[in-house]
Amino acid sequence: MFNRRNFIASSVAMMAVPAWAATASAPSKRTFPKGFHWGAATAGHQIEGNNVNSDFWVLEHTKPTLFSEPSGDACNSLILWAADLDLAKSMGLNCYRFSIEWSRIEPAPGQFSIAMLDHYKRVVAGCRQRGLTPMVTFNHWTVPVWFAAQGSWTHPDAPDLFARYCDRVMRYFGDLIGVAFTLNEPNGLLIARAMVPPQAIAAQKAMLVAASRAHGVDNFIGGPAFGEIHNMLPNMLKAHKLGKSAIKAARSDLPVGATLAVADDQAAGPGSKRDEMRKIFYGAWIDNVKGDDFVGVQNYVRNVWDAKGKLPDPAGVPLSSEGQGIYPSSLAGAVRYVHEATGLPVMVTEHGYYITDDKIRISQLPLALAELKRVMDDGVPVLGYIHWTLIDNFEWVSGFAPKLGLASVDPKTFVRTPKPSAAVFAAIARRNSL
Ligand code: BGC
Repeated sequence: MFNRRNFIASSVAMMAVPAWAATASAPSKRTFPKGFHWGAATAGHQIEGNNVNSDFWVLEHTKPTLFSEPSGDACNSLILWAADLDLAKSMGLNCYRFSIEWSRIEPAPGQFSIAMLDHYKRVVAGCRQRGLTPMVTFNHWTVPVWFAAQGSWTHPDAPDLFARYCDRVMRYFGDLIGVAFTLNEPNGLLIARAMVPPQAIAAQKAMLVAASRAHGVDNFIGGPAFGEIHNMLPNMLKAHKLGKSAIKAARSDLPVGATLAVADDQAAGPGSKRDEMRKIFYGAWIDNVKGDDFVGVQNYVRNVWDAKGKLPDPAGVPLSSEGQGIYPSSLAGAVRYVHEATGLPVMVTEHGYYITDDKIRISQLPLALAELKRVMDDGVPVLGYIHWTLIDNFEWVSGFAPKLGLASVDPKTFVRTPKPSAAVFAAIARRNSL
């Protein structure tokens, strides 16, 4: 039905959506725009296995450690990457988001592995062969051991080193990449720093001190180094800029952005801390990504803030295995906020559920997508929805216990088995409609 709100909304959407994602016709309420990206995401360290030259591998094996178990073989995706792509294709998806491992590509400073560049080139080409747009994250948290041993992002050379790595990758297979992300959730440690108890900061410090001792250096920084984030932040902000420039220098037409961790933050009552918390969690990055082609939004939670802090979830709300409430409008709220704060089109680069009971995923996912569609109908330009995650994997400090995948993975045979929710998501993606 024509009305003023629809008209303004669709005009705004058409203005703000970049040409590489342009919509051909006005979609119906249930139908997503033509060319909408439907995908699933993974990250190298979480699925590849034996990422032995990375900071996380070191810290998983440090004593004391924050990790509940080591990543080991993970899902063996370094070998079985084609099975992952086949799975994504079998679900009717049109894109696949994955990360390349800096520590494999540059195992020693300035030494670039042709074999590993070839490997990732095969993965990117494998996406193309299957009709999946390859969306490549250049850094999904893990860094080479040598980079961590010199202080990681605190080191003044860090942004240039990251840009040099981006340049090498681009020159090797940049022509095949569909969308590039510089850093994954670079604001995640700011959120962790503000939310974790002091004991966790002390435990993280003890882990880094032990790793420094083991490597004979003063300042091994890596893994979930939330205690160090304020020393790392200026160089991470710069790394995004320099990484983006390096990528654009090789291919000016390639869409490049960062992906941000964003909750659906809501204000309750007078004097709510909501805006103060938003500033801490996102402020620096909201400013830093302005002028990018788009911004990636990754949402898992809703926070309601009163004047004292975060309120508990009301009784009766479905809970994740981490004890956090699941709300259908959480993703849409985060997307709307980030678009309004940056003026950029949004790509949902992650959204998913920590749940062992797949029935909750089946019931919640269509509701979240309906809410997402509603903000799109209000004029927020959304380029795609990429679910976290394709397969159950190594969930960082929590090990393999959390189950966020659309498919499970046998820990011994590595056989991937789609869960019933994969069919539900696939049906929506195939018809591009709810
Ligand atoms: C990260 C993923 C992680 C997911 C679920 C995001 O913060 O980018 O690597 O697995 O959340 O915790």
